Amino acid sequence: MAKLSRLDAPLIVGAGVAGLSVALGLDRAYVISAPDAGSTWWAQGGIAAALATDDSPRAHAEDTLAVSGGLAGAAAVDALTRGGPAAIERLIEMGAEFDRNDQGELLLGREGGHQKHRVVHADGDATGAEVMRALNASLGETVTVIEGRVVDLVRTADRVAGVITAAGKQRHIYVAPAVVMATGGAGRMYSMTTNPPGVTGEGIVMACRAGARLADLEFVQFHPTALLAGKDPMPLLTEALRGEGATLVDPHGRRFMDQYHPMAELAPRDIVARAIFWQHDRGSGAYLDARSIINFHERFPTVTAHAMSVDLDPAHDLLPVSPAAHYYMGGIDADTHGRTSVDGLWAVGECASTGVHGANRLGSNSLLEGLVFGARVALNVSDHMVDPVGDLSVPKESLRLPVLPGPALEDLRKIMWDRVGLVRTGDGLWEARNAILELGPILRRTIAGRDAADLGLMMVMAALRRSESRGGHYRADYPDLDPTQEHRTLIDTGAVETVVVG
Ligand code: FUM
Repeated sequence: MAKLSRLDAPLIVGAGVAGLSVALGLDRAYVISAPDAGSTWWAQGGIAAALATDDSPRAHAEDTLAVSGGLAGAAAVDALTRGGPAAIERLIEMGAEFDRNDQGELLLGREGGHQKHRVVHADGDATGAEVMRALNASLGETVTVIEGRVVDLVRTADRVAGVITAAGKQRHIYVAPAVVMATGGAGRMYSMTTNPPGVTGEGIVMACRAGARLADLEFVQFHPTALLAGKDPMPLLTEALRGEGATLVDPHGRRFMDQYHPMAELAPRDIVARAIFWQHDRGSGAYLDARSIINFHERFPTVTAHAMSVDLDPAHDLLPVSPAAHYYMGGIDADTHGRTSVDGLWAVGECASTGVHGANRLGSNSLLEGLVFGARVALNVSDHMVDPVGDLSVPKESLRLPVLPGPALEDLRKIMWDRVGLVRTGDGLWEARNAILELGPILRRTIAGRDAADLGLMMVMAALRRSESRGGHYRADYPDLDPTQEHRTLIDTGAVETVVVG
């Protein structure tokens, strides 16, 4: 029998930048923090905001729209970019320390797809950790953090009413007047990824089981430069390095990016990532040459530590690179206030798909998304809290299955990388579908395995349906953009069968 707690304030699932930003915007909140730390802590690259005198939110919006493959929503982008400067200001007020020049002004970096210098960083390449430090330090008595692993959402007949957590065989149901998913992305659906353990899109699948509509599941962003050194997760070599003049070269030291795009190393991410993929496919290999960056060790301590751990010194050595799954544009369909298609449920940050990134995210817009949309969601939630009444129900399996995935998850991750990765074909996607179905009975022995199998299948089906190339989704059998497919992919499966629990 599951234990039941009725909470008197909104419940936020996830304690990264998005979840904590919602919590800090509410009079009172509960935050469920998972055992795995989540992606925000790992973010090297910074936060984009129009802070320079020659910049404006409109220019930031234009750059965001330009890389989005035509699918970003103008209202969402407008909200994001207009909210940028105030979001940085709030973080500074909370005590976040960003890098500054000798005059004390914020140092603004430039990254791929940005026409202006507008990316703030902390300690060179440790921005996520500083953001988390500042947000956590600001949590007062109004926010109660609960350690736990959420395995499903709890419903009444007409709304999402709470969550169920698991610790071994123990289950605990929390009922709340509003539930906000801030569970992060799905990078670990792939064997090559920069994402830390636990990031397999479980929150997205839970929302789907509760009847929420999903969107844009085919759009995965592959970061161009992860360090190719046999590590999992793969250490990120931040794009800021290319902003500071690092180049991409073949084993003979020859640059190759100018063959692919006029912005060369600072071209949009999908273009740089595929160029590196082709280099590997041709057997040429690809390296980041950052030797021209002065004071490298002081300016990029995180990258330095990663490289040194595999006996490479970025100040002297070429760094072998590969693309790696990095960010998920797909997720729970949500409007610009985080409202999903199901009453009682909001979504924010990487697990949400608001259309703010379209088919391809502009670098350093994701921490910003968590901050800006987190505050917007808090305002909306405050106005729409309802104490759930009636029978509570959950999907039956979530009451009894063990949680953690077995080794079959590694097989799934490999299938996704090989067949649902940077370069896709119809044949490869069908092979992926069949292979996931074959693995299904083994994966479905655990909750995390079941969720990964379900998400993998939905990603494959969305990728099959999009017979064109756009943003992060590239089909070698349909290499061109098809203007008739300039629309989002929406998946509405309806809630699954549940059992009454209280
Ligand atoms: O390259 C980077 O530092 C990544 C930034 C981001 O994903 O926004």
